[in-house]
Amino acid sequence: MAAQNILLAVAILLLAKLFMNWYKYCSIPGPLLAGTSDLWRAYYQYRGQLRSKLLTLHKIHGPIVRYGVDAVSISDPSAISIIYGSRAGFVTVSTAESYKVLVGISNGKEVASLVSTADEAKHGALRRSVSKAFTPAAVLDYEVYIDQTIPDLLQALERHETVDLSEMMLLYSMDSATRVSFGETLGCLESESDVGGTIQLIRDRFNHWGWWSSIPTLERLVYRNPYSMRVQRTPSSMAAKAVSLLKSRADTTEDKTHSDLLQKFIQAGHDSPETLDMTGIVGLLMSTISGAGDTTATTMTAWLFNLMKSPEVMRKLRAEIVEAKLSVPPSFAEVNKLPYLNAVLKESMRVYPTPTFPMERKVPSGGVSIAGTFFPEGITVGCMPSAIHMNPTAFGEDAEVFRPERWLEADEDSLRSMESAHLGFSRGRRACLGQHIAVMQMKKVISSLIVTFGVSVLPLGRLICTFYRYEEYFSVSIRTL
Ligand code: HEM
Repeated sequence: MAAQNILLAVAILLLAKLFMNWYKYCSIPGPLLAGTSDLWRAYYQYRGQLRSKLLTLHKIHGPIVRYGVDAVSISDPSAISIIYGSRAGFVTVSTAESYKVLVGISNGKEVASLVSTADEAKHGALRRSVSKAFTPAAVLDYEVYIDQTIPDLLQALERHETVDLSEMMLLYSMDSATRVSFGETLGCLESESDVGGTIQLIRDRFNHWGWWSSIPTLERLVYRNPYSMRVQRTPSSMAAKAVSLLKSRADTTEDKTHSDLLQKFIQAGHDSPETLDMTGIVGLLMSTISGAGDTTATTMTAWLFNLMKSPEVMRKLRAEIVEAKLSVPPSFAEVNKLPYLNAVLKESMRVYPTPTFPMERKVPSGGVSIAGTFFPEGITVGCMPSAIHMNPTAFGEDAEVFRPERWLEADEDSLRSMESAHLGFSRGRRACLGQHIAVMQMKKVISSLIVTFGVSVLPLGRLICTFYRYEEYFSVSIRTL
């Protein structure tokens, strides 16, 4: 009897807690279960379906949707400057919330990467210390590394008639990211394999983020308890290589033989030793390699896939590229002049942006009004790029269609409003640091592929599985022109 009473009391307390959770923001529309417990969003995130679920919910409920106890997705473009604009004072969700599960563990200690550094001042100082390495002018120094890697990709493709494009793009992106970062590849393209398991490590990290970010308290209990923290983790071969290269170059700020990120970070460490030490440099290199690998591969795969599904766009793009008489690999100066190539890239990143859940920020003290709704201090708000990108107010009634021409036909005002609603590289103080590298790389690689190969989708294909989980099935046939 006593046990029954205890069970009853526990059940009542649990129901009361679920009710209180829901009641807290019950005026915000969204599924009832999402408001009662974060297990709802954890379930969809685990299954890789949160993106499509949120898109459907925005169609039903409009621009503001509650998808967690304290989490709200906003698809109104006016939210972007408020949430991500530098003046707003919003902070990346920190303690016990989504970005926290991205913090790495090394020698029993938590080591934050740039993206998972919650402290705004620390994040800002770290970012400023290396920002010179990522300006549009500075990234031209890395072009040589991309030029060395593109022929490896073309050779690897020539060895096959049919390829899993996403896998090949991933091998390319890893080799290119490591070359840009420290001047050497791990040899993924040459061996057509995940050398040293580095890709798997990055994949695990992203999956871990996706699976646990909704329930960070549980993640802490499972992975950051005193026992788990003590478990020794072997450093990845990529990290080991970065450490050994850093040691061999540590005192070489005058080095003229390398123009990679490592050399620029060493210089930044000399300029701001209080902000960037040896561990910080290795951490930043790991951040750039893991930030660059999958995102670039996914974006290029989606870009080619969109082209293959739209023969007219492919025809126009090929015509522009052929007319430009590009060398292979082309110089960035050559490809950066091509207007249709630029429009296709923007459009592809619009219809298939890489983040698959809202980029969450905490509302600062005093609260804030967004899209006509007041959000109190502490609640988490965020924009999911795919939801914003499907908004007809910013992109027109045909927002769901892949149509690069929209970027060329728009008048000045519409173009400005489309540009400011494009979240492919995020926005504000935590926007993608490597975006100029990514754009240079993608324009050069896609042009090289189009000049060299004919590509078409095979009707019955394999599941193309990236870290972000494609929802479409296809494989790709490649033939040399
Ligand atoms: C098409 C390719 C890429 C896409 C779509 C992309 C997208 C993004 C996005 C959306 C974020 C913000 C994440 C968030 O706030 O939750 C981000 C951050 C970041 N990206 Fe990229 N990225 C790409 C390529 C690269 C490359 C090539 C590098 C480095 C060479 C890079 C380095 C970083 C870093 C270091 C951050 C963290 C910035 C910070 O927290 O201050 N990314 N990226």
